[in-house]
Amino acid sequence: TSVEKIKADGFVTMSTNAEFEPFEYKDADNIVGIDIDISNKIAEKLGVKLKINDVAFDSLVAELSTGKTNFVAAGMTADEDRKKNVDFSDTYFDASQSIIVLKGSPIKTRIDLNGKKVGVQQGTTGDSYCTNEKGTSDIKVASTERYNKGVDAISDLLNGKIDAVVIDDFPAKKFVEKNPDKLVKLDEALTVEKYAIAVPKGDKEMLKVVNEVLADLKSSGELDKIIDKYKAA
Ligand code: ARG
Repeated sequence: TSVEKIKADGFVTMSTNAEFEPFEYKDADNIVGIDIDISNKIAEKLGVKLKINDVAFDSLVAELSTGKTNFVAAGMTADEDRKKNVDFSDTYFDASQSIIVLKGSPIKTRIDLNGKKVGVQQGTTGDSYCTNEKGTSDIKVASTERYNKGVDAISDLLNGKIDAVVIDDFPAKKFVEKNPDKLVKLDEALTVEKYAIAVPKGDKEMLKVVNEVLADLKSSGELDKIIDKYKAA
């Protein structure tokens, strides 16, 4: 079984996309963040080392379905489309998509995105919100510019190539904190999303371990402490 193999190997593999501060990002040569702290608890629970695969966000689901990884911790929203291909743990963080614009931008609300060029991280819920293939939102952007890294969308916003960036609220806050003179995050929340850890479809054993760790972290108050630590960082 998956857990027996992990114990025999002496390590558990977690896949992520370390371009998403404060959930996972690079600090010098290390990958750090809220999801990394949670993942270390999962490795601890299994009594093994944690191995991290840092890949593009839009290949994370494939990492699971092709057996390259044991779980994905990537600020990933537990959404219906993904549920067809992976199983999600209990949720551990409430999020939403938010809008970042340059100071003084005419974009003041969601509706002002109509007809504008909007940058997103490829394959994220922000991407689907803006691309609106299912026609579920009333927003019609002129074009959705897709980036592998949120930070590249921010550079294009700063140099005027796009009009706004749509990204998860906590990372948005971090981007704005780094550029307080030039950027603002609008207050409006575009979506209601919950982050969960993904495991290979049908891997009940792995799912159970992950849910036990999350339950412990919640009841002990440790999850809040981890989140607060990265709020301040
Ligand atoms: N919550 C969004 C989603 O699930 C964005 C997650 C991006 N995460 C990352 N590690 N780059 O689509």
